[in-house]
Amino acid sequence: METAGFIALKEVEKTFFLGKNPVPAVRNFSLTVEKGELLCLVGPSGCGKSTLLNLIGGLDRPTRGNILVGGTDITRLGENELCLYRRRQIGFVFQSFNLLPQFTALENVELPLIFAGMERQERLRLARELLERVGLGERLLHRPTELSGGQQQRVAIARALVNRPAILLADEPTGNLDTASGGEIMALIKSLNEEGITCIIATHDREVAAYAHRIVVLRDGAVVRIEEL
Ligand SMILES: Nc1ncnc2c1ncn2[C@@H]1O[C@H](COP(=O)(O)OP(=O)(O)OP(=O)(O)O)[C@@H](O)[C@H]1O
Ligand SMILES: [Mg+2]
Repeated sequence: METAGFIALKEVEKTFFLGKNPVPAVRNFSLTVEKGELLCLVGPSGCGKSTLLNLIGGLDRPTRGNILVGGTDITRLGENELCLYRRRQIGFVFQSFNLLPQFTALENVELPLIFAGMERQERLRLARELLERVGLGERLLHRPTELSGGQQQRVAIARALVNRPAILLADEPTGNLDTASGGEIMALIKSLNEEGITCIIATHDREVAAYAHRIVVLRDGAVVRIEEL
């Protein structure tokens, strides 16, 4: 039985292939993350931040090594189980918000609950509750083009959290925002983290990383050092 760390990556390797040419993206990467931690992955473009988030989130599989989450080795799960893992345990937030343009804020947040098979009244109640939590109680019926960038990212965060995942993964969540909106998004993520959700954030931005408990500095797919704040 695994006890050390809520999330444990053990000697993880990820190599992509371009034709026959191997492109190592993550090399011999080991790390444990505790429940309730806010961790940032930083490092130059191409150092493997997004690849690591995709591996932890079960969007991709490592070439070698193991990834344990709550004692389960997700590298051993079949496709259906991995899909359930993503749906139940993971909330994902992207740089480009990825909202559906034809739907309102409320409908965008409701969507994961439709896939989860939840009944309509309950869906609407939960989606509204999450949008209120991220400060958008007055914008429920706005479509993405009728919202600011920071507001769109709040909707994306509400959508990521509506299934009550244990882990929030965010890939450059402030990358498309001005400094002020970026600061507001990080303050929101910090307060959600203080409510108990484990957060792992990939960023170029040292100001974003300053919100973390620990910063993992990467280069060429490997850990250069870990800073405790
Ligand atoms: N699907 C893929 N096929 C081939 N190579 C890939 C693929 N995805 C990523 N890579 C390579 O893997 C390495 C790591 O990429 P990754 O996207 O994880 O970097 P990153 O740290 O997120 O960079 P950025 O800060 O620019 O987002 C890079 O060298 C990249 O070119
Ligand atoms: Mg990236």
